[in-house]
Amino acid sequence: MEGTDDQVTGIDDLPVRDELRGKSPYGAPQLDVPVRLNTNENPYPLPEPLVERIAERVREAARNLNRYPDRDAVQLRTELAKYLTKTGHYALGTENVWAANGSNEVIQQLLQTFGGPGRTAIGFEPSYSMHALIARGTGTGWISGPRGADFTIDLPAAERAIAEHKPDVVFITTPNNPTGNAVPPETVLALYDAAQAAKPSMVVVDEAYIEFSHGDSLLPLLKGRPNLVISRTMSKAFGAAGLRLGYLAADPAVVDAVQLVRLPYHLSAVTQATALAALEHTDTLLGYVEQLKTERDRLVTELRAIGYDVTESDANFVQFGRFTDTQAAWRRILDHGVLVRDNGVPGRLRVSAGTPEENDAFLDAVRDLKKELDA
Ligand SMILES: Cc1ncc(COP(=O)(O)O)c(C=O)c1O
Repeated sequence: MEGTDDQVTGIDDLPVRDELRGKSPYGAPQLDVPVRLNTNENPYPLPEPLVERIAERVREAARNLNRYPDRDAVQLRTELAKYLTKTGHYALGTENVWAANGSNEVIQQLLQTFGGPGRTAIGFEPSYSMHALIARGTGTGWISGPRGADFTIDLPAAERAIAEHKPDVVFITTPNNPTGNAVPPETVLALYDAAQAAKPSMVVVDEAYIEFSHGDSLLPLLKGRPNLVISRTMSKAFGAAGLRLGYLAADPAVVDAVQLVRLPYHLSAVTQATALAALEHTDTLLGYVEQLKTERDRLVTELRAIGYDVTESDANFVQFGRFTDTQAAWRRILDHGVLVRDNGVPGRLRVSAGTPEENDAFLDAVRDLKKELDA
């Protein structure tokens, strides 16, 4: 971040919390290159009729901006519950759903409620790194749980870690980011049982990418499991990363509990209006998801044909490798004008599924790279 010329104070000169000293803020590079496939965004801009509808709804909301928004976002939660009921094959009502500014805020509220100082959370890594960072930000201790060499959750090892550490919160990301693979429902159930036997603890299933999966959402597992939470987002399948709208589905008691920590009026009237407009266009937006799934499958097939080692993907991105010098490989792809992500997984990079043209540019770049590596 830029400071003024006479800035002499650094973060570590301030009385910041000890656990924040020497740390850097999270964030993928936002470079201005022709093909950006590094943050798992949806490459399709919102369709024009939806843009019009957003403008209408926001105009209506603007007339009341002198007032605070609906603190409980009832209409939005009702529509989200309908969407989940329709696509998740499990009936949910407004009382089962809570919404916030991105699923990152949902996760933060969950950790503020169920984690915090003196408590711990576990995730099976490599996984979504914000789980650990939000744990740090909320003063929750972080435990890095194991994953197998093929990036699946090694169930016996994971069960042992839960029994040993007795975490207060267990994160399961399915499909997992950055690896792309989904977690089988039986594994989630076994981990839930292990977490209840050990503590009992809250189990948060992060389904940010579930709409891209070959399989179904785990929403039906909520039945009879009050300590299970499913977290979702409009950033990926709905193509609305800029909107910042995440939500969770759980027992109504969980929704009541997170209200103890949410800031009053956290979800602006403009956000609520925009999200409601997007939900009116669900069918069109899910049509783009189908195209992206086809492109994702093409990336997997073509990367394998070129000779890369590719992790199975149920998401809108693909992990590939192996590289001896991952940073150099990332840089060579960037030299072709294509930005992918180095998530710090040894020997692996991650590419988000883009438009067919963007994916062609990426495939050309990695074809050239492979020739160089094999030369
Ligand atoms: C697994 C996972 N969960 C949550 C998020 C955050 O999504 P949001 O934009 O809703 O905060 C991401 C974003 O990349 C993600 O990969």
